[in-house]
Amino acid sequence: MRGGIVVTGTDTGVGKTIIAAGLVTSLQDKGIDVGVMKPLESGAPSFESAPIPKDALYLKEISGVQDDLDLINPYCFKDLLAPGVAAQREGREVDLQGIKGLYEELKGRHAFMVVEGVGGLLVPVAKGALLPQLIKLLDLPLLLVARSSLGTINHTLLSLFYCAQAGLDVAGLIMNKATPDVDLSEESNFQTIAQFTEVPLLGSFPYLGDYSGVKVNRDFLAQIFTQHIDVGVLLHGLGLA
Ligand SMILES: Nc1ncnc2c1ncn2[C@@H]1O[C@H](COP(=O)(O)OP(=O)(O)OP(=O)(O)O)[C@@H](O)[C@H]1O
Ligand SMILES: [Mg+2]
Repeated sequence: MRGGIVVTGTDTGVGKTIIAAGLVTSLQDKGIDVGVMKPLESGAPSFESAPIPKDALYLKEISGVQDDLDLINPYCFKDLLAPGVAAQREGREVDLQGIKGLYEELKGRHAFMVVEGVGGLLVPVAKGALLPQLIKLLDLPLLLVARSSLGTINHTLLSLFYCAQAGLDVAGLIMNKATPDVDLSEESNFQTIAQFTEVPLLGSFPYLGDYSGVKVNRDFLAQIFTQHIDVGVLLHGLGLA
């Protein structure tokens, strides 16, 4: 059984946070004790000069975990840059082993960990290190979130082919519709990608319109996630079902 998953994306803003939240709530509804982590966050708004890790805060709130925010998010940067770049600009160092230590601590408290990645896949997370190095250190499979619109075939296949080449285990792919815009490719993107990968395609998550309302409605989010995403296939692949 794998004790967790990293929710990563084909790009920044594709919906990792909402998909991570949906996954957390739907696993909880299956009786699984889920912990959350967003180890690196950037572009954070400040309150009294302290940056606020919005994604980490949201994942903590929606999951209802009692863990300290500092454990869930050890690194938060003000600048909207890849964390490794933001850290360098602030003269800070990201300690990947330290993140692993915090992850192990949280993992000891929960049956399953949902860890949100950052940006896309090949994103600097520390000096000389890209996100896959952290994923390997945590020894976790990943869930890839892709946008549903034009351009996603290229982004998704590049990400999946990289994972295969780098020996990263992809437990599933979810397409997320993050904007109301519609384009012709959306009719066929899912099926087209399926022709080129063996990775389980878990489903398409719909555009939710008033996202802020759904965000705070835990049960509604869980219901939508379970309706559209094949959580059973994911759990089976992870050895949890
Ligand atoms: N299914 C959806 N329905 C409605 N709005 C969505 C949906 N998915 C994403 N969004 C919108 O797109 C924005 C980006 O989504 P989200 O924050 O989940 O992406 P992300 O990949 O986690 O971004 P980051 O790289 O900053 O962590 C959200 O603020 C939200 O407004
Ligand atoms: Mg996010």
